[in-house]
Amino acid sequence: MKVPFLDLKAHHAPFIEKFDRAIREVIENSAFAGGPFVEKFEEEFATFCGSSYAIGVGNGTDALWLTLLALGIGEGDEVITVPNTFIATAEAITYCNARPVFVDVDQDTFTMDPRELEKSLTERTKAIIPVHLFGQPADMDPILEFACANGLFVVEDAAQAHDAEYKGRKAGTMGDAGCFSFYPGKNLGAFGEAGAVVTNDPELRKQIQMLRDHGQSQKYYHALMGWNCRMDGIQAAVLSIKLRHLCAANSVRRKHASQYNQAFDGIDEVHTPFEAAYARHVYHVYAIRVQARDAVRQHLQEKGVGSAVHYPVPIHLQDACRNLGYTKGAFPIAESLADQFLSLPMFPELTEEQIEYVVSSVSQAVGSEVLV
Ligand SMILES: Cc1ncc(COP(=O)(O)O)c(C=O)c1O
Repeated sequence: MKVPFLDLKAHHAPFIEKFDRAIREVIENSAFAGGPFVEKFEEEFATFCGSSYAIGVGNGTDALWLTLLALGIGEGDEVITVPNTFIATAEAITYCNARPVFVDVDQDTFTMDPRELEKSLTERTKAIIPVHLFGQPADMDPILEFACANGLFVVEDAAQAHDAEYKGRKAGTMGDAGCFSFYPGKNLGAFGEAGAVVTNDPELRKQIQMLRDHGQSQKYYHALMGWNCRMDGIQAAVLSIKLRHLCAANSVRRKHASQYNQAFDGIDEVHTPFEAAYARHVYHVYAIRVQARDAVRQHLQEKGVGSAVHYPVPIHLQDACRNLGYTKGAFPIAESLADQFLSLPMFPELTEEQIEYVVSSVSQAVGSEVLV
């Protein structure tokens, strides 16, 4: 048996005709960069999230960057985030000429540990970016309380958490803004690059709308120096179709996660992901923790099972961040997770048999073969 890590072809197959029609409509309307299809998706996505506004942009990195710029983050400012995230979270901070400051994560949820915030606070701290890693929201209430007490902005990195919930509130809607990526492999993925910011703040919305479109307040009148970060019409049309199926697809992901969890129960060498009582986890990534991870991964490859590591090197230890001056040992939890994480196949079209096969292959690798 072969089990791919991700199967986008299977995910898209039922909707091919709808995509064809939608893309043809964009072509017929010549509405390629921004325009009515983007506006329609923005409205739908804002409504889906329960937010006042969504602003479509070129990708998730743009969403974070433009939000920080619009909040006035700049030279000399510090922004607190976590080291176990995709590099884009830190890139967005450095693009504003601000400095990323990291705090360690919670051992169980792998998200920002609010108890770590106090010791990283300085006079230069302006914002916090919690990352809803793998589809599980960070523990937002204490983070929001800390931010409020210290006059800081909160920008949620919800790139992996479309439709995830924290105490019934959608990821991305609790801070000043929430930033999403629609990279093709995400739970809500486009047919190329796309991203969005959601916010309830009309001023922030206006500022991001200008920044994404060359700082234009109206055509060829530039209120400020912006950039080109518009969303494509074709991506918006595709996303409008896929948004209607997101919630159902996430429910299937949750079912798969629970099948994995049950099947791994009793295999001491495998630590399954923990779902916090406050969370509706949407399992963008289903990551187990194992010792000798690379050997297990090698075995899976031999058995025809796709896997991935999110992420092998925490951001503070990446070559690109050497100038920040962090050394090994600075964030022991994030560092030990990076050594142990192993992401297993997770997409809605996985079958029960495929999950059984993945579990039996992992079990063989950790030397505790089980009959599944
Ligand atoms: C946590 C996180 N933040 C930001 C991004 C950046 O999104 P994009 O690739 O759309 O620029 C990603 C994308 O993988 C991500 O996973």
